[in-house]
Amino acid sequence: MPTVKLDASEISFDCAPGDSMLRSALRHGIGFPYECGVGACGTCKFELLSGAVDSLWAEATGLSERDRKKGRHLGCQAIPLETCSVKVRLDDHCRPEIIPVRRKVAFTGYRDITHDIREFTFVGGDRADFLPGQFALLTLPQVAGDRAYSMANLANDKGEWKFQVRRHPDGSATTLLFDGLAPGQEIFLDAPYGMAYLRTDSSRDIVCISGGSGIAPMLSIAQGKARDERLAEKSLHFFFGGRTPADICGEDILRDLPGYGSKLHYYAAVSDADAAHGWPGPVGLIHELVASKLKEALAAYEFYLAGPPPMIQAVQNLLVSEHKVPSSQIHFDRFF
Ligand code: FES
Repeated sequence: MPTVKLDASEISFDCAPGDSMLRSALRHGIGFPYECGVGACGTCKFELLSGAVDSLWAEATGLSERDRKKGRHLGCQAIPLETCSVKVRLDDHCRPEIIPVRRKVAFTGYRDITHDIREFTFVGGDRADFLPGQFALLTLPQVAGDRAYSMANLANDKGEWKFQVRRHPDGSATTLLFDGLAPGQEIFLDAPYGMAYLRTDSSRDIVCISGGSGIAPMLSIAQGKARDERLAEKSLHFFFGGRTPADICGEDILRDLPGYGSKLHYYAAVSDADAAHGWPGPVGLIHELVASKLKEALAAYEFYLAGPPPMIQAVQNLLVSEHKVPSSQIHFDRFF
């Protein structure tokens, strides 16, 4: 089993055959830096000082040509082949609260959430253990590379994992999920990952902002908040943006939670004015609705975000540039 030694420290860890450097480090409770876990964000870059690694995805978008020339690799894509010495700056923030485990789970069913978002349920033989807002890495048959999907439910002893996934017409993973999974079929699921999980030690009210299938981790956070005694006095404002009224979802789950209407509020907006016929709510981008509903005091909240990159960017501009919300109060995992 190859060992990885971290330069300028006493830390070393073993990598199980086929396991990436990042996942092996996290399984040992080490704060190896990461965000997406799938080769897109570049956060897990390291320098290989000695030894050899294989890459799961040689053209990973998280690595630039310049990085490649400088001998940098991605921890989430690198499989150590022998003892390696690497240079990487550990991040305490990335040290896992729950050690990720790879296990087999079986597909048990789905339900349609909108015309193009479907909730898939998988069940494993051990407890489904994760914090609200975290994600799993799924290995799907005949799909190259693992895919990251956030859990839409809460940790449970039944071993149940629920994911709300949006269909991408050209996406091999979503095509497999929507059209190619038979009930009982087993896949590998590795979890939990991600740092955008519900903070229970914050004294601030909570704001969740999402679009598209980014709603899944926000639903988990809203359910986690509603069931956590420590957050009983806190309010949660749940914002969801879609292009058309047919894209709007999520309120049915929130309506069943304790505190709905008093401590838990749902707001939705559609962005395409031409498609908004009959829509009784606001038309515009979701960050505009956040600004109009919460007014000026945005720095008083703890924010959780998930959605398409332009939405995340617009919300960040609103929060950080316009309202000086400290970045420590804004939680999201970068998948781009
Ligand atoms: Fe490796 Fe994002 S965590 S590229």
